[in-house]
Amino acid sequence: MNKTSLFLLLLLAVILFFPVSNLIGLQGHNEPIPVVSGKSANFVKVSEILQNKCVDCHSPGMTRMPFYSKLPIAKQLMAKDIEEAGARLILSKALYNGEQAFTPLMLARLENVVLNNSMPPTQYLLMHWADNLSADEKQSLLAWIAEERGKLPWSLDSAEALKGEPAQPLPEKVSLNPEKVALGNKLFHDHLLSGDDTLNCASCHDLTRGGTDQAKVATGIRGQQGPINSPTVYNAMYNIAQFWDGRAKDLQEQAAGPVANPIEMGAQWDNVVEKLKQVSDYQNAFAKLYPEQGLTKTTVTEALAVFEQSLVTPNARFDQYLRGNQAILTADEKTGYDLFKANCASCHFGPALGGLSFEKMGVKQDYFKLRGGQPTEADNGRFNATKQEKDRHFFKVPVLRNIELTHPYFHDGSVNDLNEAVRIMGQVQRGKNFSDDEIGKIVAFLKTLTGEYRGKPLTQLTAEDIK
Ligand code: HEC
Ligand code: HEC
Ligand code: HEC
Repeated sequence: MNKTSLFLLLLLAVILFFPVSNLIGLQGHNEPIPVVSGKSANFVKVSEILQNKCVDCHSPGMTRMPFYSKLPIAKQLMAKDIEEAGARLILSKALYNGEQAFTPLMLARLENVVLNNSMPPTQYLLMHWADNLSADEKQSLLAWIAEERGKLPWSLDSAEALKGEPAQPLPEKVSLNPEKVALGNKLFHDHLLSGDDTLNCASCHDLTRGGTDQAKVATGIRGQQGPINSPTVYNAMYNIAQFWDGRAKDLQEQAAGPVANPIEMGAQWDNVVEKLKQVSDYQNAFAKLYPEQGLTKTTVTEALAVFEQSLVTPNARFDQYLRGNQAILTADEKTGYDLFKANCASCHFGPALGGLSFEKMGVKQDYFKLRGGQPTEADNGRFNATKQEKDRHFFKVPVLRNIELTHPYFHDGSVNDLNEAVRIMGQVQRGKNFSDDEIGKIVAFLKTLTGEYRGKPLTQLTAEDIK
């Protein structure tokens, strides 16, 4: 029996048994979980909606277990739903009662299903026809999502009316120790960090090229081709973890990697530390800034990490829009942003429009089949870091700030043209074939994300500016 006929059968069963089962209380609704006091009226409403309409699949262990869930096939289907739903969003008691706040990721995913009318799933609605979200309920959910986002420190700089947007402006200034930033900058551009004194971090993360090498894959020591595309270092501080597979927990841990990687900078940390100690400027700077530890691998990577935290690119046209300058975006760019919000912002959200979650490359369609060519180890993505099957082909969602400069795109650097990258995203992540017109508008929006470094637009930055 296929899925459709099974559901028709179940539907019939429900129609026949519904009144009886209701009368004798077989549907077994749990007691509602009371909301802790002091929560907004919007939240009280939302908690009720979620408990009424989402609990069956998104709250493992709290499921209401309708009578038909005892039927063998229905039981299996529900178990599968609960597993898949739980992988995307778990609604716990502490979330329902407001003791715990929803994370920005949960808010982004919720907004997406509300905007797309995709939850509860159609098949479930066949049996729970009253569980469709009404227009009023959707409004409550969206209003509450906006309210929650307004509480994030990220939205401090947003215009009042735009505090609920999925993306927030980058801060105009970051407060860091300027001497450590300068030291990190010097290290970032120093060839002594490589085994044969030919490469520096900027070889693959050129600040005048959007913080990348603009090459398909990185070229390391002695011309060796790496397995993967160089991501940007700009705004990397907004990543939940570093590398495409997230194997480094933060910027400092990350910075230790390329130096000792035999196909990147191909050096040994002990040798690098010895070479740097021969330079009196470094000796003095480390003695001053790290009086206790002096110049070590740890302090070198710390200084690099501080420098990278300064690589924020504020003041893009989109930031000015979020701060309240409505006229700065064209009509096409605004339409592009609306398309982006409905289709992309469940993964590309936050101040850098990405970096905050791991997602499968190919949610709706097999990307690797579409691309063709031999699968590589790098294609496994986060699986390489966790060895868990559920993480295969998952990647850290890239940040989209300055995306017009960070081509070629994707972990395999397989796409040169931003229009093509957007087309593929629509296809493999959303199961949608966008028209050329829609793609053009999304790309127009993406180009409003190009910001400034040291007060100069990234597109005009020269080697002189970054000294
Ligand atoms: C019959 C089970 C079922 C019910 C009821 C249900 N969901 Fe889901 N939900 C799923 C499954 C399965 C997935 C994962 C697959 C998918 O995204 O379609 C999911 C995924 C999601 C996601 C993640 C989307 C993403 O970005 O991947 C959100 C958010 C969500 N559901 C919200 C809700 C809300 C809100 C309700 C109640 C209004 C609800 N769901 C009711 C089964 C359910
Ligand atoms: C030979 C080219 C090369 C050099 C030199 C290099 N990198 Fe990278 N960098 C890469 C590649 C390729 C990746 C992605 C690797 C991966 O994800 O497996 C990367 C990733 C990163 C990331 C993570 C960004 C993200 O979005 O996850 C940061 C930060 C970074 N490099 C900083 C540095 C620093 C600091 C140095 C110098 C100490 C450096 N890189 C030297 C090629 C290079
Ligand atoms: C389900 C999550 C998800 C959705 C939805 C999504 N993306 Fe992505 N996006 C990703 C992931 C993961 C990658 C990295 C994939 C890879 O490199 O293999 C990515 C990569 C990209 C890139 C390339 C970035 C780079 O630096 O290489 C662009 C551009 C992009 N997405 C734009 C979009 C647009 C536009 C949309 C909406 C039409 C969208 N994405 C929807 C998860 C998503």
